[in-house]
Amino acid sequence: MKTMLWEDNQLLLIDQTKLPDEIVYFTCKTYQDVIKAIKTMVVRGAPAIGVSAAFGMVLADLAGEDLEKAASEIKNSRPTAVNLFWAVDRILASPSPRDEALKMYQEDIKTNQMIGKHGSPVIDDGDTILTHCNAGALACVDYGTALGVIRAAFAQGKKINVICDETRPLGQGARLSVWEMQQENIPVKLIVDSAAGYLMQQGKIDKVLIGADRVFKGGVANKIGSLMVALSAKRYGVPFYVAAPLSTFDYDKSIGEIEIEERGPEEVLLYGNCRIAPENTEVLNPAFDIVPDDLISGIITEKGILDPI
Ligand code: MRU
Repeated sequence: MKTMLWEDNQLLLIDQTKLPDEIVYFTCKTYQDVIKAIKTMVVRGAPAIGVSAAFGMVLADLAGEDLEKAASEIKNSRPTAVNLFWAVDRILASPSPRDEALKMYQEDIKTNQMIGKHGSPVIDDGDTILTHCNAGALACVDYGTALGVIRAAFAQGKKINVICDETRPLGQGARLSVWEMQQENIPVKLIVDSAAGYLMQQGKIDKVLIGADRVFKGGVANKIGSLMVALSAKRYGVPFYVAAPLSTFDYDKSIGEIEIEERGPEEVLLYGNCRIAPENTEVLNPAFDIVPDDLISGIITEKGILDPI
């Protein structure tokens, strides 16, 4: 099953807000539908946001809309994943938006398979691997980046165990990564976010593997909580790898220039549909944090493993 499909000049997205309970597609007929899907996280994950944004531009083009205006509105949907900006600019520069978007769709799958190929040697037979958030097929067109490396290692016959942390507030680890692993019978266990440090202290995690929303000079931006996992990994000598396509790289930027998305309070105040704090509680809800390069063992890309700079 693909995260997205382009059919009859419409973009169909698996509605990730409904997983794992329901598998339904959200239909985008206009570029405004794509913006809504990105903002509400029907589609999420840097590469998936990028390719969806590309098809958003195609929808704008097919409707005869002003492409510069559509590009600027699409770019305003979420700030942190650089793939969004990369994809929209690539379509703007193309004489044939639809063909370019379809090319990006196919490239994404191939890129992730290459990330899996280059990354699988870092995983040893018998490893237990912690992953944070969802950098899987659902975060891309298919296969995934961090979970793509896990898929590749598993396909090579390595006996591995995966640990997904919940990834509060929206539970991408619990709802999406666990579900993806279960679909392929890859052994997986779920932990609360705060258990990661303890398990590393106990020697129960051999590697950490996460994705990225932006790789820049000095570090990597990824889902909130990545920094705490990386700090624990450094303290307990657990190798910490980031898997990301080159479309996530933004070496023109340095740490102070990365915009970290702040999302609404309801994501923190609610656990599912259940309120967990007094009404009117003030909330801070940064959606991403930054892992500095000295905490990163390597960045796995489609071209090989790079040292962070
Ligand atoms: O807020 P999200 O769910 O879009 O955040 C996703 C992540 O942080 C992923 O780890 C990242 O985009 C890499 S996806 C291959």
